[in-house]
Amino acid sequence: MSLTREFAAIGSKDQLRLLTCGSVDDGKSTLIGRLLHDSGSICRDQLQAVARDSARYGTGAGEIDLALLVDGLEAEREQGITIDVAYRFFTTLRRSFVVADTPGHEQYTRNMATGASNAQLAIILVDARKGVVTQTKRHSVICSLLGIRHAVLAVNKIDLVDYRREVFDRIVRDYEAFSSILRFKSVVAVPISARFGDNVISRSVKTGWYRGPCLLNYLETVDVQRENVGQPFRFPVQWVNRPSPDFRGYAGTVASGSVAVGDEIMVAGSDRKSVVKEIVTYDGELACAGAGDAVTITLSDEIDIGRGDVMVKPVEQPDFADHFAANLIWMGQEAMIPGRSYAFRISTRSISLGSITSVKYKVDVDRGGHLAARTLSQNEIGFCNIELAVPTAFDPYEANRLTGSFIIIDRYTNETVGAGMIVFPLSRAANVAWQPLSVGVDERAALKRQKPCVVWFTGLSGAGKSTIANLLDQKLLSMSHHTMLLDGDNLRRGLNRDLGFTEADRVENIRRAGEVAKLMVDSGLIVICAFISPYGAEREMVRGLVGDDNFIEVFVDTPLGECMRRDPKGLYSKAKLGKLKNFTGVDAPYEPPVDADVHLRTLGVGPEPLADAVLSSLVARGFVGQAC
Ligand code: ADX
Repeated sequence: MSLTREFAAIGSKDQLRLLTCGSVDDGKSTLIGRLLHDSGSICRDQLQAVARDSARYGTGAGEIDLALLVDGLEAEREQGITIDVAYRFFTTLRRSFVVADTPGHEQYTRNMATGASNAQLAIILVDARKGVVTQTKRHSVICSLLGIRHAVLAVNKIDLVDYRREVFDRIVRDYEAFSSILRFKSVVAVPISARFGDNVISRSVKTGWYRGPCLLNYLETVDVQRENVGQPFRFPVQWVNRPSPDFRGYAGTVASGSVAVGDEIMVAGSDRKSVVKEIVTYDGELACAGAGDAVTITLSDEIDIGRGDVMVKPVEQPDFADHFAANLIWMGQEAMIPGRSYAFRISTRSISLGSITSVKYKVDVDRGGHLAARTLSQNEIGFCNIELAVPTAFDPYEANRLTGSFIIIDRYTNETVGAGMIVFPLSRAANVAWQPLSVGVDERAALKRQKPCVVWFTGLSGAGKSTIANLLDQKLLSMSHHTMLLDGDNLRRGLNRDLGFTEADRVENIRRAGEVAKLMVDSGLIVICAFISPYGAEREMVRGLVGDDNFIEVFVDTPLGECMRRDPKGLYSKAKLGKLKNFTGVDAPYEPPVDADVHLRTLGVGPEPLADAVLSSLVARGFVGQAC
């Protein structure tokens, strides 16, 4: 059995994968250190080093500070917090254990989500002095969503409340009242002192009133259901290995199920089928491969398979859709905005465009119910509908943790801003296909003797967008071009009259404007758009919608001070008096384009030459002929 296979033997009788979660000071590292130490998993050198460090960092008052065994990183020790997810291994006669040590700090929810993704049991640490806090609940909800079905409520620092039974009982009652919304099959509460070892390895005499098992004994015997047993074969292709013209292999790690030489396979969501010819590994060829095996598969036929495709068996196909409902944990510092485009990654598949179309509800972590919401802030958890630009293969997370989870990436900062678990595919999009039109855009454009495009004016209110856009429109008309001008104020009186000026509403405003502009381009028009469009993400979204080649971004660059001085509609004065909220440049942001196709610096220049500059750019790009 290969090493990777051994690690992936999730649920095998002799191995338990668990994770610990709790707040920074709840004593997580001490507990793990205690388990490692008391189970004899620490060698002498390490112990000596820790004894030295305990004296140096002085957190253990003369004793060995077990947390130092675990907090390996210098930075962690100095700040006194645990930063990353780390895996610790220890073994007893009955079982071996893999512990994902995840940080407790609120902003590290992300690490916690990754650490938890293959754990079978969660130890939820509570400080006996503080009881159940919001973070305890948040971590419990995440563990439950991540499919962990067994939990231990470790009421730590019981020594600091004089081993009092009523403290323990109250915490257990509080947790039980809340945990009914969780999908744990078992929750066992244990009063412990990680520092002194009470009820960790053996029952403590100081808690004579406690009748349950000690922690380690429970971990050794808890019956966690096997996963990955009888699961369908899923092989997300990581890369295509083509060292020579006569060898083409598909490399990746088997996510679930198994495959053997001679098996018929297909690419999920396509009709491309073939038969497995060889299963190659670093150590030679295999007759079959199972979950966790990193292999290269070759096929009998040359079929088109690329990175991100999922190889499956024809009898057990996954869902294939561009629309699904999912539980989402939002990690981004900035709130999630429905309709904004983000990048997604599901297994090995990267999808550069997708969006959260709606938030159905967010979880009220404190009270355990659901709340109506339009957006999710950092660390909030919600149930959302998600739409991708292209269909992709997936399974519900319940059925397969690997092919049912995804992450959301901010397209500009490249940061992971969300983690999701798919609940079910949505068929709406699958049942609504784009209907081909018998008259194409080229024919419509040819009749008008022009090349359609979108000329997108962006800039502050009062910058001069509408004035320059109107002049350009007149000039194009005089050259016999067919155009249409979409102006922010006008759309907001009709199509977008239900929208205000919050970030979410502006995103939706631009999404709709972009869709309308796209339809007009399809009808062969040159479409001039004038919207503040304060966010780079949405301007790029419209560029993606109409195609890079057909999108000309014009930045009307008028300094804020000048816009305020002009104040053509008197809105800046109102905003400054606080009578108008979310006014761009006053109490709402404007992200100037970094690399606009046309950059108009307007100070001291009249609208005529500015409109001419845009026209010249359209001529240079071949959208219109020379002006007479
Ligand atoms: S955008 O930000 O969503 O792109 P849009 O261009 O449609 O805005 O509309 C901007 C126009 O709405 C401004 O020219 C101004 O006349 C008016 N307006 C009213 N309230 C605001 C506000 N809070 N911020 C900006 N513009 C506002």
